[in-house]
Amino acid sequence: MSALEKITVVGAGLMGHGIAQVFALAGHRVAITDPAAAALDSVRARIRANLRDLGLDEAAADRVRPLADLRDALAAADFVVEAAAENLAVKQALFQQIEAAAPGHAILASNTSVIPITQIMQHLSRRENCVGTHWWNPPYLVPLVEVIGTQWTSAPVIEQTMALHRRLGKTPVHVKRDVPGFIGNRLQHALWREAITLVELGICDAEAVDTVVKASFGRRLAVLGPLENADLVGTDLTLAIHQTVLPAIDSRPAPSPYLERLVASKKLGMKSGEGFRAWTKDQTDVLRLAVMQHLKAALQSDAAEK
Ligand SMILES: NC(=O)c1ccc[n+]([C@@H]2O[C@H](COP(=O)([O-])OP(=O)(O)OC[C@H]3O[C@@H](n4cnc5c(N)ncnc54)[C@H](O)[C@@H]3O)[C@@H](O)[C@H]2O)c1
Repeated sequence: MSALEKITVVGAGLMGHGIAQVFALAGHRVAITDPAAAALDSVRARIRANLRDLGLDEAAADRVRPLADLRDALAAADFVVEAAAENLAVKQALFQQIEAAAPGHAILASNTSVIPITQIMQHLSRRENCVGTHWWNPPYLVPLVEVIGTQWTSAPVIEQTMALHRRLGKTPVHVKRDVPGFIGNRLQHALWREAITLVELGICDAEAVDTVVKASFGRRLAVLGPLENADLVGTDLTLAIHQTVLPAIDSRPAPSPYLERLVASKKLGMKSGEGFRAWTKDQTDVLRLAVMQHLKAALQSDAAEK
């Protein structure tokens, strides 16, 4: 198999353009495709703006080649990453086209947030070459990439995908079983479920939930994972806490009716001005900026430690 030099990104939206940026910055030639002309036409400018903002070499954007035709974009690919809509039928149809157009040796990856890779790739014929690579937003600031294998994925394909992302400077983690939500989103949404339940039950308001997380264990999370924390306090204390707390924690296997009511009443969050909390445009901008500044500072601190 080749050295995975030539990359194709399918989908030039929020994730696709950022993923293309990371590959290009590491020296790869990147073809990118998207049926939406607006997304494709703006992709280099968006990458250039990100690079400028980060104080990095804008010339990397020139290594990203926007191509409207999917087959043209795939013709020379060694590694393909799909970042189109989070919809099983769309992804299945897209991968049929991708497999037909990509060279036989190419590794085919989906950046799905939560859909099992097994479902996305089940109708393909070269399933041993198929993986999940789940990046986090923004792809050029968050280090993790979950690398998900299916029952069909070959060991060399996993190893090469892990090595490729390591060379990009990312932190790849191998997810050994292809379960919905993989690792990160299972953990994240276990927390979100309980956060919603606390509000639904009137135990506190949404602002209190966010303050509690940000002012307590959220502060430690970037340097102390949950199982490191369990070992720090002791597995015996962890067991005692679980005996009391777990029976009281939400375990409903479906979305909260409170969340369903918010969506039904068009309280869609920042984009509609209200979700769990009310948002002005200024408040939204301040929060978005704070997240970006925090992530940039974390990355700079990682770089300083190396
Ligand atoms: N937004 C996030 O935080 C995040 C994080 C990790 C993973 N993801 C996943 O990444 C994928 C993309 O998410 P996004 O946030 O970039 O969405 P997005 O809406 O910003 O971009 C999706 C792009 O895919 C394009 N597209 C649609 N059909 C296509 C096709 N047939 N071929 C090629 N391109 C097509 C759209 O035109 C659009 O530009 C989804 O599966 C999503 O769940 C998103």
